[in-house]
Amino acid sequence: MSTPNHPEFWNSRYLKDDTPWDFDGVPADLKEFLQKKGRGAKVLIPGCGSGYEIQAFAEADYEVTAIDFSPFAVDRAKRMVGPDLAKNVLLGDFFQYDFPGEAFDLIYERAFVCSILPDRRQTYRDRLAQLLKYRGLLIGYYYYKKPVLSEGPPYGFAWGTADDLFSRYFLLVKDEPVNDSLPIFAGRERWQERRRTSIQE
Ligand SMILES: C[S@@+](CC[C@H](N)C(=O)[O-])C[C@H]1O[C@@H](n2cnc3c(N)ncnc32)[C@H](O)[C@@H]1O
Repeated sequence: MSTPNHPEFWNSRYLKDDTPWDFDGVPADLKEFLQKKGRGAKVLIPGCGSGYEIQAFAEADYEVTAIDFSPFAVDRAKRMVGPDLAKNVLLGDFFQYDFPGEAFDLIYERAFVCSILPDRRQTYRDRLAQLLKYRGLLIGYYYYKKPVLSEGPPYGFAWGTADDLFSRYFLLVKDEPVNDSLPIFAGRERWQERRRTSIQE
């Protein structure tokens, strides 16, 4: 059976144009964040989907890597960014992919953690901690709503559970309400920035 753990689940959503998460552009908090140039810092975008943000990061002087396991999404993102950046859009599983080179300075999250089944969240957090440099930043959008498995994604965070999850490796340094959310996330979305600390149990 195709579940959100499988690329077919997402690929068929793209094929049916059933994509209520798709922003069709770069959201405001990220635009504001990118006012400060990256000076060649390495950023990873897991579950990049259509990948509108890839070009924005590149223009802000970041070295971008984006990954998605839906072939439809990757093709669309490659077309979106054009030939120069297309090689930076990888088809693969975020949990398995062997990323070459040094760890990332930044990881950008949008609608990815809410797309994976909640029982994978610790694995997701550990993977982020593995891929991000010490003192690197995890930034992006987080959806706060108690998850109901039978309803399918997006699976939000019940209040407090994100803090419990991330505190093992990350320190919350910014937390703001989002003003340009799509209807599916409206009133329940926050822009957050977390710094990778050395704390490990
Ligand atoms: C809800 S969509 C969000 C896409 C994009 N981040 C956005 O904001 O439009 C979730 C995306 O994560 C991708 N995805 C889910 N699990 C994945 C995994 N294990 N590895 C790579 N991509 C994954 C799906 O294919 C889908 O494109």
